Amino acid sequence: MWTRRSFLHGTSLLGATAFATKVNGLEEVSAASAAVAERSPDDVAQDEFYWREIQQAFTLDRTLINFNNGNNCPSPRVVHEAMKRYLDMANMLPIVYRAQTERNFEGMRRAMAKEFGCDPEEIAFTRNASESLQIAQNGIDLQPGDEVITTEQDYPRMLTTWDQRMRRDRIKVTRLQFPAPTTGDDLYQRFEKALTPKTKVLHFCHITNLTGQLFPVQRLSRLARQRGILTVVDGAHALAQFPFKLRELEMDYYGVSLHKWLLAPTGTGLLYVRRDKIAKTWPLQAAPERDDNDIRKFEAIGTHPAGIRAGIAEALAFHQAIGAERKAARLRYLTMRWANALKPNPRIKIHSSMLPGETWGLALVGIEGVDARALSQFMMDKYRIVINAIVAGQYPGPQFPYSGLRVTPNVYTTLEEVDTFVEAMQDVLKNGLPGDKKPA
Ligand SMILES: Cc1ncc(COP(=O)(O)O)c(C=O)c1O
Repeated sequence: MWTRRSFLHGTSLLGATAFATKVNGLEEVSAASAAVAERSPDDVAQDEFYWREIQQAFTLDRTLINFNNGNNCPSPRVVHEAMKRYLDMANMLPIVYRAQTERNFEGMRRAMAKEFGCDPEEIAFTRNASESLQIAQNGIDLQPGDEVITTEQDYPRMLTTWDQRMRRDRIKVTRLQFPAPTTGDDLYQRFEKALTPKTKVLHFCHITNLTGQLFPVQRLSRLARQRGILTVVDGAHALAQFPFKLRELEMDYYGVSLHKWLLAPTGTGLLYVRRDKIAKTWPLQAAPERDDNDIRKFEAIGTHPAGIRAGIAEALAFHQAIGAERKAARLRYLTMRWANALKPNPRIKIHSSMLPGETWGLALVGIEGVDARALSQFMMDKYRIVINAIVAGQYPGPQFPYSGLRVTPNVYTTLEEVDTFVEAMQDVLKNGLPGDKKPA
């Protein structure tokens, strides 16, 4: 009934062209969510009628199956259209319209802070998680001999940044290894044991990009703060994939790519800096002293397109229209669908926790004896599945003892797409990869 009402509303008010951009947008998703509001997220996760409405909100290439949403997600139509509108508007007279749009970012800052649980004066808009995290990594004062503890499974660019500080400032960087999956207790103990009087920073992921390993952020942040140690948390994959509040994590710095799970335009990110750490953190681009305490000093990067950043507002509205709990439940449902279908086979190796509350839309799976890169290529060649192979490279890149396919579906993923992936994996389990010797 809500679909029909939206349909009539769209046609009568806006005419055919606008209708094309309106139908199955925010209004339809909100109406669909209102219709299921009384039901539990786990129940709605299985309601294909509801998720059909969400699937329709995207303009995708459905000739391909996208299981690499961990990289850069497509935005829903409402977000993409909004971004184009802002860019078109700015181009009429950039100095006037870009500046006008930028003034509205204060409202967006308040809305993002409210949704993700922090003070608006603690978040800055950036271009991606790399920029957010490097503001922290390069902006913290460290002396020669000071130590940063991170892990072998952190993101390559972030490890590279600490390595550069090691060369430039002669700090010490310790990388911890851990099995995947593992427990929060294990991770906590590894960090606790590694602390030394010289430790000044802990840097780790909220969930890793490799297996989705979840870290005990709050416990590690408390451990660090008791000893005057700073915490830098890489939340590139966490924010908007599953619900939590930033202030409850208690870290000092948190960096996110909003073009991942928030579905905001490509080139958008967020930096959280705990209020009392803002003044002590140098921005990447120099700011006047009077801005020392102002979170906006991290945003002053010269001329850049306001229209891309403005799309965050629509992405937030879309995220809220689905609801964080419903989204997380659906991502987990999709993951459990392929995992449950594949795991009875003893050659299937799942390197992610399958426990509730630990994995949502990012998990790693390999087939014993099958090269992950060749498997990923096969997925593309035969099944048109876009999926990322996770394989450790040479040091100084991340080091880890597993490999496999990182499976990252999204809210627009259909059950047929998940089942095609299962079929493709079963094909390889039965027949091997083309060119391999047939199993005896
Ligand atoms: C864990 C992690 N950190 C940081 C980044 C960097 O994100 P971006 O390339 O959007 O800056 C990524 C990107 O995939 C990531 O997975």
